Amino acid sequence: MHPLQCVLQAQKWGPLASMSWLLLRTCRALSNLPSTACPSPEKQQEDGVRKDFSSRLATGPTFQHFLRSASAPQEKPDMEDPPPYVTVEELLGRQRKVYLETYGCQMNVNDTEIAWSVLQKSGYLRTRNLQEADVILLVTCSIREKAEQTIWNRLQQLKALKTKRLRSRVPLRIGILGCMAERLKEEILNREKMVDILAGPDAYRDLPRLLAVAESGQQAANVLLSLDETYADVMPVQTSPSATSAFVSIMRGCDNMCSYCIVPFTRGRERSRPVASILEEVRKLSEQGLKEVTLLGQNVNSFQDSSEVQFNNAVSTNLSRGFSTNYKPKKGGLRFTYLLDQVSRVDPEMRIRFTSPHPKDFPDEVLQLIHERDNICKQIHLPAQSGSSRVLEAMRRGYSREAYVELIHHIRESIPGVSLSSDFIAGFCGETEEDHLQTVSLLREVQYNMGFLFAYSMRQKTRAYHRLKDDVPEEVKLRRLEELITVFREEATKANMASVGSTQLVLVEGHSKRSATDLCGRNDGNLKVIFPDVEMEDINNSDVRVRAQPGDYVLVKITSTSSQTLKGHVLCRTTLKDSSAYC
Ligand code: 5AD
Ligand code: SF4
Repeated sequence: MHPLQCVLQAQKWGPLASMSWLLLRTCRALSNLPSTACPSPEKQQEDGVRKDFSSRLATGPTFQHFLRSASAPQEKPDMEDPPPYVTVEELLGRQRKVYLETYGCQMNVNDTEIAWSVLQKSGYLRTRNLQEADVILLVTCSIREKAEQTIWNRLQQLKALKTKRLRSRVPLRIGILGCMAERLKEEILNREKMVDILAGPDAYRDLPRLLAVAESGQQAANVLLSLDETYADVMPVQTSPSATSAFVSIMRGCDNMCSYCIVPFTRGRERSRPVASILEEVRKLSEQGLKEVTLLGQNVNSFQDSSEVQFNNAVSTNLSRGFSTNYKPKKGGLRFTYLLDQVSRVDPEMRIRFTSPHPKDFPDEVLQLIHERDNICKQIHLPAQSGSSRVLEAMRRGYSREAYVELIHHIRESIPGVSLSSDFIAGFCGETEEDHLQTVSLLREVQYNMGFLFAYSMRQKTRAYHRLKDDVPEEVKLRRLEELITVFREEATKANMASVGSTQLVLVEGHSKRSATDLCGRNDGNLKVIFPDVEMEDINNSDVRVRAQPGDYVLVKITSTSSQTLKGHVLCRTTLKDSSAYC
């Protein structure tokens, strides 16, 4: 740790959930600049800024300063109030071009837009061209070993890009954002000296400061986890103007502590965004003409907004029958049913979905609401993870196979025609052949419409890492995974076959990737539907014939299916409200 100047920075804007720190390290690349190089005027100015920065840093804040600011009132950092070692000007992007690359789950896609929103406000520009980027930021995932390996490989390619960078241009800065930054912290900076900044999932507001520090050739990191950061006031920027749907983050973090999962360690404690700010975002999206919103979070249906008046304070969470939690029951606040009800009332023509829920939080009120409200999609993701009660216990999922199957029956009775999807892990610690066959039989019994299947990947810090043995050989994990995929596909094909001959409401997304003469959209169950791009009648105006555009609702008669897609021919253009008479 010799060239490393490590300053403990007490968090100024919220309670700490983990050690807070800021790392500053001299970048060797800068001191290696050949003296013959003739820098551009812009670069000379940059060098001046850098020298100035270094001298200010030397006389900058001490450890005591940060300790003092720990007791300062809680507030978010903003441009008018930079730390003493950075000027307001240095926080500005000065038209630097940022290239953002996203890996992992949908939550990361949303986080990318939050990070971009923060940087855009600071004067950065966005580029989709890697070659013209001044800053490259990778929004990373840690859920499985393979996800991290992809990033290490990508960093090798970016290293070459950074080394080849023309001296006449400003130095290229590279940042690791998200779960991998949180999990590995300074290990990344030590292993890859070309990485300039690290920002954990709760530190995106700090990006302008981290980049300002990096401008001076120092490495900078903020991997603070917060108990209250929800980015409620940072409206993600809708990047594709032709998009028909958007994701709205409603909560962050996870308190479940399933024994295999790294998420509670990388994304921290569960916290919900205030209902009012979610509704404001949904209203804006509706005004922009978007037709579908997916409410996003690690555990959406345990949503609990306690920021306003306390509702039903004495009432604790209604769990699904036969389910338990690894934490104390949550009481009070505005819950998921209330939020879903409110969101679905914003625009009756806007479809509402949510992901990812936990099976434990499906009280009857939620199911009833989904059944009754036309614009809430009849589609539920119900991650089972395993079909063996013994393995479910080792995973600390809080339910048995029997309770899960009972819930499936209850959901199917409450919401006829509901589309179901699930996540499964093959080869968890101690999983026997008999356990595996139980998962196969669950896939057969439930017959999911969609599935996400993974081989188990041991993650440090998790309960399984500390207490269980990763004893299923890799080749057995992969063989079991293959078997699960095959069974899932067979069953999904059967499930989808049942829809042949039915009329389905499809939200048009655009042309099919495979054929310019076909259109592509999604049905209520979120399955892809392909149909020929032809003229059709508009249900509300039989005098005109129209061609469907992205964002239109059309009725499609299904003629054939596979495990992943439905095909059919279009009947007419309609509205979500009018469609209920036909579907
Ligand atoms: N190994 C394999 N799959 C995992 N998942 C979560 N942690 C692991 C792990 N360590 C899967 C679960 C979860 C999905 C998002 O990723 O199935 O629901
Ligand atoms: Fe991980 Fe379980 Fe939380 Fe999902 S619910 S993110 S699997 S800990």
